[in-house]
Amino acid sequence: MEGVDENNYTAANKNYFALTMSDKKNRYLGSKNQAGTYQRIISLMPPHSLYIESHLGTGVVMKKKPACKYSFGVDPNEEILSAFKCDKGEVLVNSSFIDFISQLNLDDYDDVLIYSDPPYLLETRKSTARYKYEYSEQDHIDLLRTLKGLSSRKVKNIISCYPSKLYDEELHNWNSIKYQTMTHGGPVTEQLYFDFEPDGLHWIKYAGKNRTDRQRIKRKVASWKGKYEGLPDEERVAILAGLLEVDFNIFRNGSNK
Ligand SMILES: C[S@@+](CC[C@H](N)C(=O)[O-])C[C@H]1O[C@@H](n2cnc3c(N)ncnc32)[C@H](O)[C@@H]1O
Repeated sequence: MEGVDENNYTAANKNYFALTMSDKKNRYLGSKNQAGTYQRIISLMPPHSLYIESHLGTGVVMKKKPACKYSFGVDPNEEILSAFKCDKGEVLVNSSFIDFISQLNLDDYDDVLIYSDPPYLLETRKSTARYKYEYSEQDHIDLLRTLKGLSSRKVKNIISCYPSKLYDEELHNWNSIKYQTMTHGGPVTEQLYFDFEPDGLHWIKYAGKNRTDRQRIKRKVASWKGKYEGLPDEERVAILAGLLEVDFNIFRNGSNK
């Protein structure tokens, strides 16, 4: 097995080799396959025609998000890429992200979204497990500076991390949200940084049978948003957690519609 240090990882989970692919996705270090996590990331996404997942791992976010015209999934770990089944328009790149992006001609594309989920800063991790390809502090600095250099009306970014001083300083003028999630090591606070103003309403274009139906959905979204906005903080969090749980179960068990 590659992608995690076998000795460390099997110490935490001795039966890793006997797991199904779906369980492996859950247990891959830093996997976004937990209740509520990928839904939050996907619902934040702005419209885009090119999607780049710069640190693919098991590629949970790329798999769960609605398809777009072109998608690249980048990871230097060949073995983790070989487990990924590409859909139409999805291309895997066995490389480091910075090498890949320095060779890509972004002039060939319109709206670009980069989702980055690099190995977390060592100082912020509880787990002693390690990836086959790790990230030094300098790698984090190089990544953040590269992404800041790309950030523009055309290239938008979402970054996942654990809270840290380094990210706070480098990305101080980006938007950010923190949320709790469950990992195999227990509950943790994760953070998302993004360089745009979220406007989830564009997702309506994926819903509804026709224009009239989409208008109905648009009114429904506005009405639910209004009610939700008016709730006390604790009640909002409880309701959001309940909704994300429903969504998680639908993804896991398949829609009954
Ligand atoms: C936090 S994990 C990504 C997890 C993924 N979001 C998922 O749901 O499974 C980080 C990934 O970054 C990859 N990685 C390490 N160095 C990299 C580099 N220089 N460029 C791109 N990816 C890298 C690791 O191999 C690992 O798969």
